[in-house]
Amino acid sequence: MCGIVGYIGYRDAYPILIDGLKRLEYRGYDSAGVALMNGQLELFKKKGKVADLEAHVGSRPHPVRIGMGHTRWATHGEPNDINAHPHVSASGTFALIHNGIIENYAVLRQRLQNHGYSFQSDTDTEVLVQLIDFFYQEGQVTAEEAVRMALSEVVGAYGIIVMCQDEPDQLIVARKSSPIVIGLAEGEYIVASDATPIVAYTKDVIYLNDGEMAILTTEEYTIKTIENVIQQPLLQRIELELEELEKGGYDHFMLKEIMEQPRSIAESLRGRINPETGQVVLGGLVDVQEELRAANRIIFVACGTSWHAGLLAEYLFEEFARVPVEVEYASEFRYRNPIIQKGDVVIAISQSGETADTLAAVEMAKERGALVLGVVNGVGSSIARATHAGVYIHAGPEIGVASTKAFTSQVTVLTLMAGYIGQLKGTLVPGMAEAIAALQAVPDKVAQILDSNALLMDVSARFKSATNFLYLGRGYHFPVALEGALKLKEISYIHAEGYPAAEMKHGPIALIDENMPVVFIATRDESYEKIVSNLQEVVTREGRVIAIVSEGDTTIPELADYVIEVPQTHPAIMPLLTVIPLQLLSYHIAVMRDCNVDQPRNLAKSVTVE
Ligand code: G6P
Repeated sequence: MCGIVGYIGYRDAYPILIDGLKRLEYRGYDSAGVALMNGQLELFKKKGKVADLEAHVGSRPHPVRIGMGHTRWATHGEPNDINAHPHVSASGTFALIHNGIIENYAVLRQRLQNHGYSFQSDTDTEVLVQLIDFFYQEGQVTAEEAVRMALSEVVGAYGIIVMCQDEPDQLIVARKSSPIVIGLAEGEYIVASDATPIVAYTKDVIYLNDGEMAILTTEEYTIKTIENVIQQPLLQRIELELEELEKGGYDHFMLKEIMEQPRSIAESLRGRINPETGQVVLGGLVDVQEELRAANRIIFVACGTSWHAGLLAEYLFEEFARVPVEVEYASEFRYRNPIIQKGDVVIAISQSGETADTLAAVEMAKERGALVLGVVNGVGSSIARATHAGVYIHAGPEIGVASTKAFTSQVTVLTLMAGYIGQLKGTLVPGMAEAIAALQAVPDKVAQILDSNALLMDVSARFKSATNFLYLGRGYHFPVALEGALKLKEISYIHAEGYPAAEMKHGPIALIDENMPVVFIATRDESYEKIVSNLQEVVTREGRVIAIVSEGDTTIPELADYVIEVPQTHPAIMPLLTVIPLQLLSYHIAVMRDCNVDQPRNLAKSVTVE
């Protein structure tokens, strides 16, 4: 994970770096640091958040024109001041910041120690900066050549920025499997892990490709491969607006993103249902229509919340497109030698488009001959670019670490895809047209549910001190139960489990007593009577029940401690509604427990390491 940012230009670099680091903090917040070129390399590092670094640096009278900054999510070496980036070579010649993992660091470290290098930190990154130094001192080469030589020996993933004391007017940048975007403005360049630190200065960017380097001076930039072959970069314009990156008056990004869902779902739908025919139109899949028509099996690969969206897609695709589906954790899929056959379509689901395991699964599926599609939020992200085709979810930037609006947009797009593939294959069963039509009313229905915020605050106050929670649902609501449990544990640190309601009898029922809150997702569908029976079983054992029910339900309110109503729609679409109260419940409980909602401990939004 980790966020990196670099600046070279005519303004004072320091405030630009700090502002950039704050925007990248979602990628990690264990420690932060900056290196500034002020005749000499000046270094500041601090355990904790970017605000702690700022306090440590204090006021700085001298502006500098070149610098770089890092916010860390620790992999090798505990979060402390020493392990914070930038790391500096023993000679003091090079400073380096790094996002990724150097897998062969132990071997390299030993080799460097044999040459008399000593190490300050426990990080893999320090090995790389020392290796660059080693080639520089030994080989009488330029800083750029030394970086290139070091990178040719490195196994692993990296997005790096390097500064050299002897060549102070440049930033050397390189990437392999960790994203790097370069913003191009008049007389200045900003490099970062994503576009968010850049957008205030320019919308013209280059996404560095794997195996590429960039050499930035105040006059010019050069893109080349790590083997030193000059590349013609693709200049792109980003669509991001600065306001989308602000909290907009909300206390937390998570709450803003929950409240935004009527709009983000509408954005995911925009232009994708033909108003005359009701048919689904997905421009991103037009070029692969033939392969989709011939698809024998669909395999979803994803992690975290995106995996839950994939699990929901299994229900949707099998019901409506009648195509067999498998749903895989990307990390498991890529390491277990999966069988990929002719006619298999692999669909990667990822909010960020940068998750290392999902990206690796995409590469593997491509190598094995599958058609690989992406359902991605991050425009221009690594997964979006690595897949053959795909559909953007257009949820807009999601900054809160716990995913909310990306999930509902993923499910919206996956519902459309089920319809689209059903259309192509001619397998559409009755009901799908109604489900697609029902999607259009979802934004209004979500807005209606958001009005029950006050009730959810009451429920949250009642259960904020619980130590365990159980979430139960059947059919389409089983993935929602998993997602509800994940949201709660991520941000409030309460242990929570999601289960298919009928499976409760095979284990979790043993946990039920008067202290166990059980959240039932029990709206009207064909399994309603069955889930009411499950609910009765919990009540009988004195469990505390919070139930998400269809508007007008009169049975469950007689049994449950708390009832939250959602409007009824097509059963296949209901998860888009039932997940909303679960998001609000976890949000309010976390706030009431004084947890850092947007930056929960140990987590990061974009997991770019395995
Ligand atoms: C992290 C985030 C989750 C996210 C998961 C997958 O764990 O905290 O919110 O669901 O990564 O990320 P992706 O960007 O691939 O959807």
